[in-house]
Amino acid sequence: MELLVTVCAWLGLGVLLLGVTGRLLWAWRAARIEGSVLPVMSARYGLRSLVHWLLPLSTRNQRLHPVVTLVSYLFHLCLLLAPLLVAGHVELWRQRWGFGWPTLPDPVIDVMTLVVMVAVLFFLLRRLAAPEVRNVTGWKEYLLLMVVVAPFVTGIIAHLHLLDYRLVMVLHIVSGTLWLVLIPFSWLSHMFWFFFTRSYMGSEFGAVRNARDW
Ligand code: HEM
Ligand code: HEM
Repeated sequence: MELLVTVCAWLGLGVLLLGVTGRLLWAWRAARIEGSVLPVMSARYGLRSLVHWLLPLSTRNQRLHPVVTLVSYLFHLCLLLAPLLVAGHVELWRQRWGFGWPTLPDPVIDVMTLVVMVAVLFFLLRRLAAPEVRNVTGWKEYLLLMVVVAPFVTGIIAHLHLLDYRLVMVLHIVSGTLWLVLIPFSWLSHMFWFFFTRSYMGSEFGAVRNARDW
């Protein structure tokens, strides 16, 4: 188990870091060759657009879909914070590197994990039911939603000791590694593209077209 934890942690975090850096450098090179994107970029309008789009219910689309917006914000908050602040992870880190950081109590982490699981179910049903998202949904989207939720399902099963702990822990570590590895190479990469596409759109709408940032 020790070996699996070490190999998977290095593999997952290493591929995530190298993959994100590689893809950003490649995009930077492509943008420089293409020549029309970088001159449009404006710090003022780019940042304004990021703040605007990161605040809940600030855009017209979010106001038109308040339930999706609420679920999406709660989902991302819990998805990003629970793995960083769960005691099990911080303890593993502390054992290896000699330092850690504050954690949230286990019951709070359990609730955050449940929020992620319910939100993924919501996204799944929405993709089956709403024509505007069903049209752009293939098997890859369903599969990735399963990858996204897998470390949360196995994490809470392990924590509550519902099934054989060792087996569930192996599944947790393998699915967690897959989660990290797939971020740079799938649509999960919206995690970092969001900041660039949004600031580009904001810059073009503000600095070039002098139009509103919807
Ligand atoms: C090498 C990779 C990983 C290792 C070794 C690992 C290890 C652990 C351990 C030891 C626990 C505590 C289980 C318990 O309380 O008995 C845990 C819980 C948890 N892990 Fe991981 N994990 C890994 C990757 C991930 C990833 C990538 C995610 C999410 C993206 C994740 C999400 C969670 C969550 C949400 C919990 C808490 C579940 C709950 O208590 O409700 N883990 N993990
Ligand atoms: C700072 C990081 C992130 C930002 C800014 C971000 C932003 C977004 C945005 C703007 C959407 C569309 C929201 C909507 O439909 O209301 C979205 C959807 C989503 N994001 Fe993220 N995201 C981030 C990180 C992540 C990560 C790390 C994951 C999982 C590994 C993830 C998984 C998802 C999923 C599953 C959806 C919904 C897909 C669906 O509609 O089926 N996000 N994200």
